[in-house]
Amino acid sequence: MVAKNSRCLFTQYSFSYSIYLRFEQTSMVYIENLQDFVGQTVTLKGWQANMRTGKGLLFILLRDGSGFCQCVVNEEEVGEELFSALKASTLEASMEVTGLVKADERQIGGYELQVTGGTVVNESVDYPISNKEHGVEFLMDKRHLWLRSRKQWALMRVRNAVSFEIHRFFQENGFVQMDAPILTPNAAEGTTDLFDIDFFGRPAYLSQSGQLYGEAMAMAMGRIYTFGPTFRAEKSKTRRHLSEFWMIEPEMAFYDNEKNMELIEDFIRTVVLRVIDKCKFELTEILERNLDMLRMVEKPFPRIPYTEAVKILQGKQEVNGKTSISILEEELKATQTHISENQAEITDKESLIAAGGIKKGKLNWMKNRVAQLKAENKDLSEQAENIPQWIESARNFKDGADFGGSDETVLTKLFASPIMVYNWPTKIKAFYMKEVEGNADFVKGVDLLAPEGYGEIVGGSERETDINVLLKKIEDHGLPQEVFEWYLDLRRYGSVPHAGFGLGLERLITWISGTRHIRETIPFPRMYGRAEP
Ligand code: 4AD
Repeated sequence: MVAKNSRCLFTQYSFSYSIYLRFEQTSMVYIENLQDFVGQTVTLKGWQANMRTGKGLLFILLRDGSGFCQCVVNEEEVGEELFSALKASTLEASMEVTGLVKADERQIGGYELQVTGGTVVNESVDYPISNKEHGVEFLMDKRHLWLRSRKQWALMRVRNAVSFEIHRFFQENGFVQMDAPILTPNAAEGTTDLFDIDFFGRPAYLSQSGQLYGEAMAMAMGRIYTFGPTFRAEKSKTRRHLSEFWMIEPEMAFYDNEKNMELIEDFIRTVVLRVIDKCKFELTEILERNLDMLRMVEKPFPRIPYTEAVKILQGKQEVNGKTSISILEEELKATQTHISENQAEITDKESLIAAGGIKKGKLNWMKNRVAQLKAENKDLSEQAENIPQWIESARNFKDGADFGGSDETVLTKLFASPIMVYNWPTKIKAFYMKEVEGNADFVKGVDLLAPEGYGEIVGGSERETDINVLLKKIEDHGLPQEVFEWYLDLRRYGSVPHAGFGLGLERLITWISGTRHIRETIPFPRMYGRAEP
C-alpha cells in the first residue's frame, strides 16, 4: 500500500526530482519498502552511514530513517564525476541515489542497490561521532546527532512501536484516552519529589502522575487511559530514573485489584509480543536482544503477596527448589569463571598482536575483539563485586520496607517471567490505595517487576473509596485537604470500586530492548544532572 502510494506521489512530482537523476526517471521509495521493488530502478534519499571502497567501486551504506541499504557504486556505470563526488562524501553526508534493486540476503535489510545515478545533497565535514567507541557523556552532549546512529535508531523505532501498541491495546478494548493536566495544584505521589513552579504568583507543580484526574474521568467514561509526560524531582542517578518520563495510566470503574492484575498481565503480554513481532529486525539484528527471554511473557505472571516476597528475598522461602541466596552464589561462581575465560582470551590475543605479522583485516578484528572482551569484563567485574552486597542486603532485608533496585533484581532472578507483588505495607504506599479488608496495615497495591534485573515497570492499586479513610490518610501524609476537595467529590457522588495502574514507558522500552540504561530510550532525556541538549 505504502509502496503503491509512493509511486503515485512520484508521478505527480517527478518533474522536480528529475533534475537530480542522470539516467532515467524513477520513483523515490523508502528502504523499508524495497521488497516491492526488486528488479526495478528506484531513488533512495538518505545519509551515508558508512562507506567502504574497492578498486573502481564504492559500497555506501545508506540510511533513510526507515532502514539501511548497501548501495554499490561502480565507476564504469556512473561515470567519473559522480563516482568522485560520492567517493569524497563523508559520514552523514546527505545524498540521493538511483539504482536497480537486487535481493541479497547477505546484506543488511536483505537488499542492495546497484547505483546508476545520484547526487550529494549536503556535505558533513568532521562529523563528531565516528564508528569508534565514545564516552557516554560525550554522546549525551551530542544527543541531537547520536540519535542517527544505528543502536539509537533501533531504540527509537522500538519506542514508536511500543507507543503504538499501547494505544492499540486500549483502543481495541474500549478504553477512552484522556489528557491529564501537566500543571497541577497538588501532589499525587508524595511531596518529596515535586518540581514546583510559579503559576501566576501561586505555587503549582509539574505532574507526577495523571492518576487522580484519571479517576475523575473514569467516573465519566468507565474505562480511560492517560498517555503523557510526568515529572519526578528525585536526585537519583540510577539507570532506572528519569526526571521527565512518559506514563500510561489506565483507570477502570468497577474494577478491584484482582481484575486490575488480570488487565496488567494481558496488557504487558500483548504489547511485548506485538512489539517483538513488529521490531524483529531492530531487536535481534541491532540490539542483539534475546527474544526467548522476552517470550517468557507468554507464561502466567506469578502473583506474590508482599509478605511472601520478603521471605523469598531473605532466602527463607524456596522457589522451584532454589533460594535467592543459592541462586546468587551460583551466579557469582559463573561470573568469576566467565571473567577468567575472557581474561585468558585477552592475554592470548594480545600476545599474538604483539608478535606482529597479522594481516590488517584480521588485526583489526582481533583488536576489536580484545576491546569488546575488556568492556565485557569491566561489567562482569562490577557484577562480581555487587553480588556479595546483594546477598548481604537480601539476607538483612527489613520486613515492611520498600524494595530497592537490587532487591527487585534479586527477587526476579528466581522467576523467568514478570512477577506481580501485591498487598503492600500501608506505610510505604501512596494515600489513595485501598486498605485490605480487616487489616489496615496493608493496602491493595500491586507492582509488576520485570525479569533479568529490570525491576519495577508498573505500579498500581485499587483505590480507597471510604471518604473518612481518605481524609485521615491525606492528613497523615501531610497533604492540604483543600486542594483535594474535588477528588473527595468523586467519593461523595456515585462512588464505585475502581482501580488502575501506571506503566513507565521508558522502563518498558529499556526491558524490551535489553538496554542497560533508561537514558537511551527517550529522544532527549531529562535526568538528575542533565537537561541538555
Ligand atoms: O509507582 P508509581 O509512582 O505510580 C504512580 O505514579 C501511580 N499514580 C500509577 C497509577 O496507579 N496510576 O509510578 C508508576 C511507574 C513505575 O512503575 C515506573 O515504571 C515509572 O512509573 N516511574 C519512572 N520511570 C522513570 N523514571 C522515574 N523516575 C520513574 N518513577 C516512576
